[in-house]
Amino acid sequence: MDLDRIRVETPGTERVIHLNNCGSALMPQPVLDAVIGHLSLEAEIGGYEAEITAAAELNNTYQAISRLINCQVDELAIVENATVAWDMAFYGLPLVRGDVVLTTVSEYASNYIAYLQRAERDGIEVRVAPNDETGQIDVTALENMIDSNVKLISITHVPTNGGLINPAVDIGNVARRAGIPYLLDACQSVGQLHLDVDVIGCDMLSATGRKFLRGPRGTGFLYVRDTILDYLQPPFLDLHSARWKTSRSYEIVSNARRFENWENYVAGKIGLGVAVDYALGIGLSNIAQRIKDLATNLRDCMADLPGVMVHDLGEKKSGIISFSVSNVEPQKVIEIMSSDGINISSTSVLSTRCDMELRGIQEMNRIGIHYYNSEDELDQFMDCLRSILD
Ligand SMILES: Cc1ncc(COP(=O)(O)O)c(C=O)c1O
Repeated sequence: MDLDRIRVETPGTERVIHLNNCGSALMPQPVLDAVIGHLSLEAEIGGYEAEITAAAELNNTYQAISRLINCQVDELAIVENATVAWDMAFYGLPLVRGDVVLTTVSEYASNYIAYLQRAERDGIEVRVAPNDETGQIDVTALENMIDSNVKLISITHVPTNGGLINPAVDIGNVARRAGIPYLLDACQSVGQLHLDVDVIGCDMLSATGRKFLRGPRGTGFLYVRDTILDYLQPPFLDLHSARWKTSRSYEIVSNARRFENWENYVAGKIGLGVAVDYALGIGLSNIAQRIKDLATNLRDCMADLPGVMVHDLGEKKSGIISFSVSNVEPQKVIEIMSSDGINISSTSVLSTRCDMELRGIQEMNRIGIHYYNSEDELDQFMDCLRSILD
């Protein structure tokens, strides 16, 4: 990996030490150029006209994502964020009273709130598979929870905090054996790990553009396996997802574009494709390896620091590190880091209630390391952490 070139191509690295990649990463210059270029064209010749001239770039975004996760372009819908992508799949599932959804302790708030809404509205039941001794989902326990009422396995691959990587492939094997649809929230894993929907065995996968993919904000995508496409009912339709055939009839489009809607962020969509190509150019295995190396070293250094508690779980760990500093509120830690030019964030019980309640934590700090972070930046982060403890 040519770190020098990558950092030159990441203008933000000149200004900040950005460790909030799990919030929103720094875009590389080619992504920025693509977005600004298209916005300028819209201003010069008109939005609709600019879209026509950008047909090849827009098409490329679907192609690039299909290479990224190993699917067909017809299995993709590009939408405004991971939540909408996930919602279009989840609310599209024909779940009825008595149907059960199996999920994880570390499930993301927006997903869990949607389970609760459908529990209230449609009478479904949510059951949470326990963690194993490492803190990841216990796959054997999950399999033992399957009965004839289970109609969906829905898990978060890399939780928004807590550092773990859930065993998505093992869960895929369970789902396949049982013939149960499998929805994977890959919001924090896409761009960070090598994902292949056939290897994972998921039927639906949701992702965002702005985090580890380094794409523009306001972008995301949904993958729906072609074999399950007609089983889902798009939660709403418009003249993009369906055709108005006669005054009394319509026809839903044949592919996963049925989960999109007409108006969209064209510049962002183009930028998303450039971001995906950029990641593919570096190689997802290279990216995953560098993130792992950086995060492992940093976790070790942090764990050696008296007064710092690293709260990460799991057999395999991600680039997201959650921690707290004794007697210093997470918001104060953010403030001090910020005054040193270091971007970090915090995360609370409102994002992963089941997990945080189990561990008795209200709020903790969070960083998400990316491949473009340098060793020197992480040293500066450690220096700042030490200064907080002094
Ligand atoms: C695990 C997980 N899922 C889903 C989301 C929602 O993503 P978006 O904000 O793109 O809708 C997040 C956002 O932080 C997340 O961490």
